[in-house]
Amino acid sequence: MSAALEVTGLDVRFRLRGGRTVRAASEVDLTLARGRLLALVGESGCGKSVLTEALTGLLPGNAETRGRAVLHPGPDLLTAPEAVLRDEVRGRRIGLVGQSAGTFLTPTRTVGAQLREAVRHLGGTASVAELADRAGLPGAALELYPHELSGGTAQRAGLAGALAGDPDVLLADEPTAGLDRPLVEHTTDLLVALARSGVAVLLITHDLRAVQRLADEGPVDLAVMYASRIVETGPAAAVFARPWHPYTAGLVDALPGERFAPIPGHPPELTDLPSGCPFRPRCGRADCSDDPDLVAHGDRAVACAPAEAS
Ligand SMILES: Nc1ncnc2c1ncn2[C@@H]1O[C@H](COP(=O)(O)OP(=O)(O)O)[C@@H](O)[C@H]1O
Ligand SMILES: [Mg+2]
Repeated sequence: MSAALEVTGLDVRFRLRGGRTVRAASEVDLTLARGRLLALVGESGCGKSVLTEALTGLLPGNAETRGRAVLHPGPDLLTAPEAVLRDEVRGRRIGLVGQSAGTFLTPTRTVGAQLREAVRHLGGTASVAELADRAGLPGAALELYPHELSGGTAQRAGLAGALAGDPDVLLADEPTAGLDRPLVEHTTDLLVALARSGVAVLLITHDLRAVQRLADEGPVDLAVMYASRIVETGPAAAVFARPWHPYTAGLVDALPGERFAPIPGHPPELTDLPSGCPFRPRCGRADCSDDPDLVAHGDRAVACAPAEAS
């Protein structure tokens, strides 16, 4: 496994007026590997989008970061100057797809013309037809104007645009939000195909069901985030088969087809996180060590080591 992007000990804090701080990422360790898709799941507000903003230099001015996020080969993204991030990283090394990826399109020019311009600007090597093919965008859509595209097609146009600069890393933040189930499946299949072609893909989603569908076939890993922390990570099939962290187990239990039992309670406010395990107030586990640090066990890692892992 060859790492394209390695994040270690990433902390992100936002300073609020009045001296309070929001801790949106705490000691995050993640590796995005070429040829694999990492699905990052967690409840709304747990810090998923902040992570992508930290990796692309798009955090607002009131944010402070610590740790490292190193592109291989390349700079530490947390300390690289904005000019390096703008001219060498965003679009060229790291492609970004958001929830409404199509909104990057200008209304007055065809999709094909805009993709051609993006390839030229970013110095990409793929033709527009190849980009369309990789993004699952029908050739006929290249002749259309953005307002003529359906939501799913606009999303694919956005994905094609994100690939225009031949990035080795693709960050997709909730790319399937608002899509119906067949389009969710089509989009996630495309992302797995991109991973298989050698791209290191991060898929951020709270659609655990969509990830479960990919887990058995694909080169897919899962990272579970809770209240600014990664609480469990490993090959997705293994984690779904036997979740180790009580929070992961709760998420899997809440899937349709499992027990469909939502986890009672709410995540803590990120302004006053406990120093121990943030899930403790919602957790039924008796033998609790209250230790939030991830501990590796082979190709998996979990905070709250279960008996069967040791
Ligand atoms: N600019 C900001 N200033 C203060 N808090 C912020 C800022 N941006 C995000 N946050 C907080 O950081 C936390 C994580 O947000 P986010 O990463 O967007 O969550 P999600 O997991 O839903 O993507 C939330 O509590 C959010 O309110
Ligand atoms: Mg988000």
